Amino acid sequence: MSRHINIIAIVARDGAIGVRGDQPFHISDDFRRFKSLTLNHPIIMGRKTFEALPKGALPGRRNIVITRDTSWTAPDTERVSSLEDAIATASDSDEIFIIGGGSVYTQALSVASRLYLTEVDADVPDADTYFPAIDPGLWEKTESLPTATDTRSGVNYRFTTYSRKG
Ligand SMILES: NC(=O)c1ccc[n+]([C@@H]2O[C@H](COP(=O)([O-])OP(=O)(O)OC[C@H]3O[C@@H](n4cnc5c(N)ncnc54)[C@H](OP(=O)(O)O)[C@@H]3O)[C@@H](O)[C@H]2O)c1
Repeated sequence: MSRHINIIAIVARDGAIGVRGDQPFHISDDFRRFKSLTLNHPIIMGRKTFEALPKGALPGRRNIVITRDTSWTAPDTERVSSLEDAIATASDSDEIFIIGGGSVYTQALSVASRLYLTEVDADVPDADTYFPAIDPGLWEKTESLPTATDTRSGVNYRFTTYSRKG
C-alpha cells in the first residue's frame, strides 16, 4: 500500500510551536483544517501533547500516544513505546498524521512525506518548543494558500504544504 506519513503543525515565524505546554496560537480556521485533514485517519502524538488536549482523545480518529511509561493509559487511546511502533500500529492506514509535539516532530521529519503547516506571521519570544528545521534541499513547497487574518487575535497566517523531493 502506498502510504503517506504526514506531519501537521502550526508554526510561528521563528519556528516556535509550544509555550508552557500549550500551543502559542489558537486559530479557529486552523482547528477546522486540522479536523478536516485528520478525521478518519490515525493520529500519532507524544504523551505531553496528548495530556494537553482539553477533552482527551480526539473523536473519529485512532489516537496513538507514544510514551516510555508502560503503565500509562487514557480512554480511547492506544499506547506505544516508540515512533516506529506507532507507525507500525497504523500500518493498515494509507494516511497517518503526526500531530506533535516538538520531540515527535523531530523524530518524524526523516520518515514523513508531507508537512501540512499553518505558518503564522508572528514570533513567540517566550516559546520553549520549536519545529525542526526544514531543509530546502529535501522539501519543496507544493501549496501555499493566500495569507489570511485571524479576526480574534489579529495574527496573519497561511496554510502551506511541503512535499519531500524526489
Ligand atoms: N504548534 C503545534 O502544532 C503543536 C502541536 C502539538 C504540540 N505542540 C506543543 O508542543 C509541546 C509539547 O512538545 P514536547 O516535545 O514537549 O512533548 P511531546 O513530543 O508532545 O511528548 C514528549 C513525550 O512523548 C514521549 N516520547 C517521545 N518520543 C518518544 C520515544 N521515541 N519513545 C518513547 N516515548 C517517547 C515521552 O513520553 P513519557 O515522558 O511519558 O515517556 C516524552 O516525554 C507543547 O507545548 C504543545 O502544546 C504544538
